[in-house]
Amino acid sequence: MEVRKYLSDQGFIEIETPYLIKSTPEGARDFVVPSRMNEGQFYALPQSPQTFKQLLMVGGMDKYFQIVKCFRDEDLRADRQPEFTQIDCEMAFVEQEDILETFEGLTRHVLKSIHGIDPGAFPRMTYDEAIQRYGSDKPDIRFGMEFGELNELAQHRDFNVFNQAELVVGIAVPGGADWSRKEIDAWVDWVKRPQVGAKGLVYVKCNADGTYKSSVDKFYETEDLAKWAEVLGAEKGDLLLIISGEASASRNQLNALRMELANTLGLRKPNEFAPLWVTDFPLLEWDEETESYHAMHHPFTSPKPDQLSLLDTDPKAVRANAYDLVLNGNEIGGGSIRIHDKDVQKLMFKHLGFTEEEAKSQFGFLMDAFQYGAPPHGGIAFGLDRFVAILGGQETIRDFIAFPKNNSGRDVMIDAPATIDNDQLKELHLKLDLPSK
Ligand code: AMO
Repeated sequence: MEVRKYLSDQGFIEIETPYLIKSTPEGARDFVVPSRMNEGQFYALPQSPQTFKQLLMVGGMDKYFQIVKCFRDEDLRADRQPEFTQIDCEMAFVEQEDILETFEGLTRHVLKSIHGIDPGAFPRMTYDEAIQRYGSDKPDIRFGMEFGELNELAQHRDFNVFNQAELVVGIAVPGGADWSRKEIDAWVDWVKRPQVGAKGLVYVKCNADGTYKSSVDKFYETEDLAKWAEVLGAEKGDLLLIISGEASASRNQLNALRMELANTLGLRKPNEFAPLWVTDFPLLEWDEETESYHAMHHPFTSPKPDQLSLLDTDPKAVRANAYDLVLNGNEIGGGSIRIHDKDVQKLMFKHLGFTEEEAKSQFGFLMDAFQYGAPPHGGIAFGLDRFVAILGGQETIRDFIAFPKNNSGRDVMIDAPATIDNDQLKELHLKLDLPSK
């Protein structure tokens, strides 16, 4: 109600868009619905109303919102359900700043009306900075333990593990110098689990008496360890934990460790709210499996205009006018300024590996609409379930959805999905080709 109130007061109009549609490219698999009246053809359920809201902008509805179910057939986790609800919004004649201000206002309104909290102006961080400081594009900034890079201080000695690493990166754990060998070993084992995948974990105790004790005492002098402690912002009594290896893998591993430590140490306080805008996401992401680029947000996201020429020479370097709203280490919203020029959109599809025919058959309707003069536009969608869970001090959205699905995508109460009988299959022109038992 508060969301509706805020957006209505701002002049947004609530518009419903259809559920029986054609595939929308949000990066997950579609749920499909067979058409009885059109043999051999299928609707897809919307992964989001993305293309419709852009068409609404072309059609002159310049402030749209909808609280809407979205459907994505993807692997489920605590913060993902196959059907979930978005607060989906779009505005015409705006720049990124207008969107950030409007939806910071919405978030602040909700925090205020639900919890009586005013978190003040939201901090902003570029994607690159977030990765460097926290190893994550959705950092929880309620606590410290920021990353520090130690390549210069730790390499070119006799410790080959560090010498061979692309990145040596660490954090300082408050009060960790008191931990026993057994406790530290448990964390070493934790990072070596296949789900985390680190090869090992170097530790340095910054003792209260000013001495240091580390797992690499053989290779480094006290002065070295003191310098590491300084870079990692450690105080006396803290424990340095250091991971090394390939840069992005090491950052991911250290991020997993930072979050798990924070959970264990009670640093992720559920009644504290720390919103953060992460901006300037990469436009494209390399997909090892298909050996091609795909859009990091979606294919309608606008590259930074001055970086268009980089698309040909250094596609990975191109940054997008795309942003996420992060709350307590969770992505609660994401959006972008859209491409509104038919030729730029064509170029994007080309770089995403679409032939001209494929682009036309899938998204011709949008490009045709652009022909009639699309206004500059942009928007955002909040994950309502995630937002509500966090407001409730938790992160498992299943506990905030009536009749949720389990991790196998089943509704165990009504026992769905279920088989359908042969007559129904026939009516839908479907023939199942199941492996014989
Ligand atoms: P995006 O894909 O980032 O953007 O989704 C927006 C927000 O929806 C939430 N979300 C989910 N919540 C629960 N279960 C899921 N499976 C799930 N997937 C996503 C997240 C996320 O931030 N059309 C664009 C928005 C835009 O560009 O305006 C979109 O859907 O909180």
